[in-house]
Amino acid sequence: MANTVVVGMHWGDEAKGKVVDWLALHADYVVRYNGGNNAGHTVVVGDETYKFHTVPVGVLHEHVTPVVADGCVLDPKIVVGELANLAQRGVSTARLKISGSAHVIMPWHRLLDALEEQHKGDRKVGTTGRGIGPCYADKMSRVGIRMADLIDPSRFRARLADCLKLKNAIITKVFDAEPLDESAIFEEYSQYAASIAPFVADTDAILAEAVQSDASIVFEGAHATLLDIDYGTYPFVTSSHCVAGGASIGTGVPPTAIDRVIAVAKAYTTRVGAGPCPTELTDAIGDKIRERGNEYGTTTGRPRRCGWFDAVAGRYAARISGATAIAVTLLDVLSTFDTLKICTAYSIDGRKTRDFPADAEILAKAEPIFEELPGWPDDITAARSFDDLPANAQHYVSRLADLVETPVCLIGVGPRRDQTIVLDREILEG
Ligand code: GDP
Ligand code: IMO
Ligand code: MG
Repeated sequence: MANTVVVGMHWGDEAKGKVVDWLALHADYVVRYNGGNNAGHTVVVGDETYKFHTVPVGVLHEHVTPVVADGCVLDPKIVVGELANLAQRGVSTARLKISGSAHVIMPWHRLLDALEEQHKGDRKVGTTGRGIGPCYADKMSRVGIRMADLIDPSRFRARLADCLKLKNAIITKVFDAEPLDESAIFEEYSQYAASIAPFVADTDAILAEAVQSDASIVFEGAHATLLDIDYGTYPFVTSSHCVAGGASIGTGVPPTAIDRVIAVAKAYTTRVGAGPCPTELTDAIGDKIRERGNEYGTTTGRPRRCGWFDAVAGRYAARISGATAIAVTLLDVLSTFDTLKICTAYSIDGRKTRDFPADAEILAKAEPIFEELPGWPDDITAARSFDDLPANAQHYVSRLADLVETPVCLIGVGPRRDQTIVLDREILEG
């Protein structure tokens, strides 16, 4: 069976959750490989809406083993809350596996995220405030706490004492803030550890066995290509490997075992937080897209910045992640516009280019060059095949695929699981 990576094409919230949910219908494993509860993935089944931050969306399917792998970071309090919430809604989490190597988001990470953002002033990244950057920084500095440490009381006590000594010095002496209380943290986090311990496992070995037995794995990317720590618009990025290559780094599944990459692209472009977004519309059209698409963050509730589809960025993302197909989502949001625009090139310092400059300083100077396409007045939320779409909507999707040089496998025409048009059944059914 095929192993497929699902990755975001622009700056997140492309409806990766919905696409992974679709693929999960025919998958054995759904694996988160990067990020933490800065992610917010929504799945709508009938009248039920589920919002996931840490647990893979595959948990909604009883036949799926959901895995949170090594490359992720977990906030134990959030994990415990998510598990309780799912249990309350009748969703079994019994099969969930969490890597012992995944790093733990501790209270000082959240505090330092806020203090560092404050310190940056105008240059702030606009993080989700979940402690993600400081947690990954500690991982790289080799001073982090891992899940395997958290669930072993004596290891946890020693690691906590060690870490907090340094962190409290920074919190009090650099930021002039109140120190954190070691014994209170030990007590609180030991309780979370007890709840999470049954899920902690050697996920690399489990996934190696899955590959060996020809099971089908879906890798649920979080955030998106342009938020990747290396290939995104640094420093306005998150702190993990969001690109498709991150699936291998973050799980221990070798690149040779990955068969397909589906890049999820909204039919327009959004961004939350700071940093350049060349096609952003700060006018009534941007407001209309935001209202029609309900573009408010799943995690923080912040209004998302909306703009026309950026095919320059899309082509770059398709290349960096090696997209074998794209899923075009939220196409229904563009109904009712007389004219639509797609950004086909940038003008930077008077020079026209189709090459995406990930360097934020250069990207900030990019002026979009647009191609205009005719819109469609029709409501398309009931369309279930490509032929059901109005000719102008078909043309829009085809043009978008041409510009990012990647075929379309799926189109989203509404938030619900069934509001989906499948163009390539083989890709989706493994
Ligand atoms: P993710 O982070 O990439 O999983 O995306 P989010 O869940 O943060 O944001 C996508 C939003 O769009 C969610 O509210 C989804 O319910 C919604 N959504 C997904 N697909 C469609 C679609 O095709 N049309 C519309 N109108 N909404 C969609
Ligand atoms: P999903 O998986 C949209 C953005 C934040 C901020 C920057 C860094 O739902 O697509 P962080 O808290 O990660 O240090 O913030 O990254 N960001 C996202 N934007 N969707 C996401 O996830 C995001 N995860 C992080 O807004 O600009
Ligand atoms: Mg999201």
